[in-house]
Amino acid sequence: MANTAIIIDGKAVSAKIREELKKETEQLNKKGIKPGLAVVIVGNDPASRTYVNNKKKGCAEVGIYSEEYALSEETTQEELLELVDKLNKKEDINGILVQLPLPKHIDDKAVIAKISPKKDVDAFHVENVGRIMLGEYKFLPCTPAGVMELLKAYDIDPAGKECVIIGRSNIVGKPMAMLLLHANGTVTVCHSKTKNLKEVTNRADILVSAIGKAKFVSADMVKEGAVVIDVGINRDENGKLCGDVDFETVKEKASYITPVPGGVGPMTITMLLKNTIEASK
Ligand code: GUN
Repeated sequence: MANTAIIIDGKAVSAKIREELKKETEQLNKKGIKPGLAVVIVGNDPASRTYVNNKKKGCAEVGIYSEEYALSEETTQEELLELVDKLNKKEDINGILVQLPLPKHIDDKAVIAKISPKKDVDAFHVENVGRIMLGEYKFLPCTPAGVMELLKAYDIDPAGKECVIIGRSNIVGKPMAMLLLHANGTVTVCHSKTKNLKEVTNRADILVSAIGKAKFVSADMVKEGAVVIDVGINRDENGKLCGDVDFETVKEKASYITPVPGGVGPMTITMLLKNTIEASK
């Protein structure tokens, strides 16, 4: 039987990059530049609360100034747009992050459109999305950029490889496809209407799953020796945190695999910190 996979350690890669970012903020501080991030959260979603806390913790770790705006579930769209406008003009703020999802009565597209592209550290604004298509990045989208950093850290070069992504979201699937394409991968994006999904995923040298379904990717969907990247953060039937990939069985077949937690997750926040520092320059 095949060897078990190398576990990609997102925490360790992330810690190393954060060390470098900390040095960079120290250098910027000497020049009188102090990177600042505003984090906006609307409502009481517990997952969003955890993400926002981790983002603030990450800022403190690398010396980024951060402000939190925790708004009630009843906040109107107009009030939120006004806040974004205020943050766009606030000089000590270089990056604005509005945590998604927003309550249903708020149009997230309108809110994202309001964020100044120069402060859009999520790279969600159409201007930055357009740049991603062209490969002329101001900000790299955080989760796909984190995946690319993990591949780089383990000397996995997508050039010429079959890269299959499960999921076509604006936040992960689509920008992930672009980054892998820019890295010269041969990219296929699968989604809920894909026929013969298993056949397609079995072609993958690099398989990225971003669909948000607990343990959806089973061993029979994975080619022997594939690199498996799990972007999902789900709860299993016992309420335990798990990814999109059935880790225990897939790791017996893959050459490299990311765990959940401790894989892609820490990298996403690290890339946000990197973007905030970039925005302050
Ligand atoms: N919700 C889930 N992922 C993200 C993210 O990367 N950025 C923001 N703003 N909200 C999210």
